Amino acid sequence: MKILIATEKPFAAEAVQGIKEVIDNAGHEFVLLEKYTDNAQLLEAVSDVDGMMIRSDKATAEVLEAAKNLKVIVRAGAGYDNIDLAAATANNIVAMNTPGQNSNAVAELVFGMMVMAARNSFNGSAGTELKGKKVGIHAYGNVGKLVAKIAQGFGMEVLAFDPFVAKEAIEADGVTVVDTVEELYSACQYISLHIPATEKTKNSINYDLLSKMPKGGTLVNTARKEVIDEEGTLKLLAERADFKYFSDIAPGAREEFESKFAAQVFFTPKKMGAQTAEANINAGVAGANQIINFLEKGDDTFKVN
Ligand code: 3PG
Repeated sequence: MKILIATEKPFAAEAVQGIKEVIDNAGHEFVLLEKYTDNAQLLEAVSDVDGMMIRSDKATAEVLEAAKNLKVIVRAGAGYDNIDLAAATANNIVAMNTPGQNSNAVAELVFGMMVMAARNSFNGSAGTELKGKKVGIHAYGNVGKLVAKIAQGFGMEVLAFDPFVAKEAIEADGVTVVDTVEELYSACQYISLHIPATEKTKNSINYDLLSKMPKGGTLVNTARKEVIDEEGTLKLLAERADFKYFSDIAPGAREEFESKFAAQVFFTPKKMGAQTAEANINAGVAGANQIINFLEKGDDTFKVN
């Protein structure tokens, strides 16, 4: 069977090699579409494949309908808001993610950005230290849990809010659980965001919530840009010179943020959280195995639709 790897932002070469080996060894055909610039290239590539793996690539209804033989699509990564799940289901396509496989890379980047914010983007002026400060983890999933562990290594006090994870499980990591999101933002100088982009969470990180953060409040976003209320964030940046917004996913109004608040914001040029050789190998090889196990044995572990 034909298995397509479609990645506008390519995996590391070692990961591509590892994925190819898994597919070759299972006797299937490996097809690679990297760095494509036009949706038409994706539409053409999917036309005759049985399985497919993507990253943040958009699997729209148009793409899924064009993939006439497609039986399984794996998002090599955690968030699957880029797959039209209703269209996948309507076309009898199983959609999966690879939870946990790229989490460490994302958690490490959180601290890259936190240190950068604390040291005033390395501009030569005296900054502050993370030690002794409170960090609030907004959603305690695979990444949040690792952020907690690293934060403890920095000597930070760790708080978390996640109504979907048992309080005892979070507390077992030495993390203080708060009952409301407002409590988290009021208590913590640093917030690390790990919520998915859903209809419920879109624009939910708004002015009211962010303005509760104490002096020196810094929001670190390695989740999704859609969860941020950009207007409210711009308003707060204008009101409070001490507030910072560092994100791995540039806002829609990137130019306005950067031109007005250069000293208070930082955005990576492209989402870099999961962009390590290790994360690419972990997620890519896991994804390839999931595709093969589904095509050969009907194993639908990590199905999300
Ligand atoms: C994820 O949801 O796993 C991350 O956002 C990584 O996205 P990427 O594969 O596009 O780097």
